[in-house]
Amino acid sequence: MLKQQRAKLVVGNWKMHGRLAANAALLQAVVQGSDEMPADVRVGVCVPSPYLAQTQLLLEGSRVAWGVQDVSAFTHGAYTGEVAAPMVVDFGATFAIVGHSERRAYHRESAELVAVKTQRALEAGLTPIVCVGETLEEREAGSTERVVGAQLDEVLAKLSVQEAARLVVAYEPVWAIGTGKSASSEQAQAVHAFLRARLAAKGAAVADVPLLYGGSVKPENAEELFRQSDIDGGLIGGASLKDQDFLAICKAAAATSVAG
Ligand code: 13P
Repeated sequence: MLKQQRAKLVVGNWKMHGRLAANAALLQAVVQGSDEMPADVRVGVCVPSPYLAQTQLLLEGSRVAWGVQDVSAFTHGAYTGEVAAPMVVDFGATFAIVGHSERRAYHRESAELVAVKTQRALEAGLTPIVCVGETLEEREAGSTERVVGAQLDEVLAKLSVQEAARLVVAYEPVWAIGTGKSASSEQAQAVHAFLRARLAAKGAAVADVPLLYGGSVKPENAEELFRQSDIDGGLIGGASLKDQDFLAICKAAAATSVAG
């Protein structure tokens, strides 16, 4: 099969990590390193919301985009502790992760809630990074496609073709997150091809949305994953907190990009 011509995207998900001083060092290093990336490799970081102002200050004018790890399903109102998508936009953010498995599991977010959050993010002008993924039990029961298909369908059902074309989708098998045990490139590619077909069924304009793989991506396995025809980059947890590792993963994306 001919290699697809989509650009690469590597996004760090810092999760609940970071302090001002450490963030500054990490962001400065990422900015410097990203200057060497070819134009068809996009780099982003999704930081804890309290650090959005700092992130904007340090990344504005650089090649690195930024965003958050969740948004509220509401635009404003009496929702103590929530952060609304328009607030995030005030700080120059472009990405919002929605439906991360940690939020689905620990905060009991339903597929329906994830779909509404995706709508709020789109309305505010953000690019939602919609996460889907199966647990180990679900994989072993042969339910991977049923589970990730249902998670994606719930989101797609609420969107027009034009809206769906603005998504990024991340396949993050729950059993691979933070475990050091990545999906093999064959396992990941198989699910990505399935998700690609599902997206294409929504409309031709949706077929090319970036499909990221997440789950124990490291400098050692990134290039092989990114070489797969339906893997357009990565959503990086632990390794995004170490500048050298994160930049090495970005370099792997560059090596597999069209211009790289
Ligand atoms: P790790 O890279 O730490 O496995 O986390 C992946 C992830 O959950 C990114 O959203």
